[in-house]
Amino acid sequence: MPIRRYTEVAVLLHWLVAGLIVTNVLLAWTWDSLSKPTAHSLVNVHKSIGLTVLGLALLRLLWRFSHRPPAYPATYQRWESVLSHIVHGFLYLIMFGLPITGYIMDSASKASGQPIVWFGLIPIPHLGPIAQLAPGAKHHMHELFGAAHSLSADALYLLLFLHVAGALKHQFIDREKEVQRMSWGPR
Ligand code: HEM
Ligand code: HEM
Repeated sequence: MPIRRYTEVAVLLHWLVAGLIVTNVLLAWTWDSLSKPTAHSLVNVHKSIGLTVLGLALLRLLWRFSHRPPAYPATYQRWESVLSHIVHGFLYLIMFGLPITGYIMDSASKASGQPIVWFGLIPIPHLGPIAQLAPGAKHHMHELFGAAHSLSADALYLLLFLHVAGALKHQFIDREKEVQRMSWGPR
């Protein structure tokens, strides 16, 4: 039976975005234990990676709308395909939610007059209407979107757990070629 795979571009975008998101989470878990200047530069890398994820997520969504994913193997239970579609939908939502809440939070920070310099190369301005708020309202936005960013990260941990658990179940318990669906190779 040939393996029904996602397109090469979908596979590339899936693993690129997954790698960048995981890197960003690892950076966020690390910077508290580092000296101020090192933590500061890691936060800048985090912002650059996050904005890259936002762009790639947009590309991915456009690709997804124009390229149908391969059908699930017939052995999958109905509840499994329904649950995996729900988890995939929320993962798409979080791919946008995490960078957008981070960007808004940062635009409401005290340093919002300084642009984010994408990997030290390209200046990306903060969101004008938020950066220009009165100090009280700005502080409130910073707190609100900081909490939303943190909550989005918690949602990501749960979704990622379900996602990987589902993939491993199909791979090792059902003995399907699950991970191969999201890999390059003969079709
Ligand atoms: C932050 C990390 C990740 C995100 C945001 C993510 C997101 C997604 C999304 C949205 C899909 C559905 C694709 C579509 O229908 O367009 C998908 C599919 C898939 N992902 Fe991930 N993923 C991540 C990490 C992983 C990891 C670590 C694994 C390893 C087990 C994995 C394995 C798969 C597989 C095998 C599929 C294909 C599902 C199928 O249709 O059978 N993903 N992923
Ligand atoms: C892939 C996208 C992103 C992921 C997975 C991510 C993840 C995280 C996580 C897990 C934290 C720690 C939250 C906590 O401890 O409560 C965090 C904090 C933070 N993130 Fe993100 N983030 C992303 C995108 C962004 C973007 C685009 C920006 C800004 C442009 C940003 C700015 C920040 C800032 C400023 C903090 C707080 C730093 C501090 O503690 O002072 N993030 N992020």
